[in-house]
Amino acid sequence: MRQLIAGNWKMNGSLAMAGALVNALRAAAADKALACDLLVCPPATLVTIAAHALLGSPVAVGGQDCHAKASGAHTGDISAAMLRDCGATHVILGHSERRADHGETDAQVRAKVVAAVAAGLMPIVCVGETEAQRVAGEQDAVVAAQLAGSLPDGFAGVVAYEPVWAIGTGRTPTEADVAAMHAHIRRELVARLGAAGAGLRILYGGSVKPSNAAALMALPEVGGALVGGASLVAEDFLGIARAARG
Ligand code: 13P
Repeated sequence: MRQLIAGNWKMNGSLAMAGALVNALRAAAADKALACDLLVCPPATLVTIAAHALLGSPVAVGGQDCHAKASGAHTGDISAAMLRDCGATHVILGHSERRADHGETDAQVRAKVVAAVAAGLMPIVCVGETEAQRVAGEQDAVVAAQLAGSLPDGFAGVVAYEPVWAIGTGRTPTEADVAAMHAHIRRELVARLGAAGAGLRILYGGSVKPSNAAALMALPEVGGALVGGASLVAEDFLGIARAARG
């Protein structure tokens, strides 16, 4: 399966910045030099304009979160159907920053995944251990518990492994550690979902940049990258995309 290089802009971006960035991605994707699939996940305020600017291009657009309900009295929230209505096709769910900043639980993430699928969005579910959990050797158990709690039965989306301590720090796990965790996640997915679990993409996220992308994307069971900081600079994001496998 083609690798997916997904940009999570987090709480960054403006109309001017989004326009310039997606136009650069659109141009790069059009020359067919890229073998991977591309996705940008801007903040909710920019989803519509990004989707509009990327209409007819192979670059997809996603949200960074959605509510578990389809509509209603939930001030400040947006639903999966609203994202779909704006032109999004994907949504990141259960990012560690959502889990930390908003106390999102595995059960809440699972409910959001169900809502996303019902609205026709492809969910990208994030899991990953903290530094203390890795130091204690608990990373496999932590990630297995997050998968068990966050994925609904019949899950057919994308999983992103993002060790919390590697996000925005410039640090990454060793290649052996990434490979071991992705193999662990694959085993968990197959145990839970059967043969369908063998075909799901497992992205790596956490300080991915052009200089380390080729080594990370070459690892077995790595189905692409979820990129934060480097996704805000077209050349960096495209540098990562060029390192991806087709
Ligand atoms: P950085 O690439 O900035 O480390 O962020 C990773 C991330 O959290 C993507 O969702």
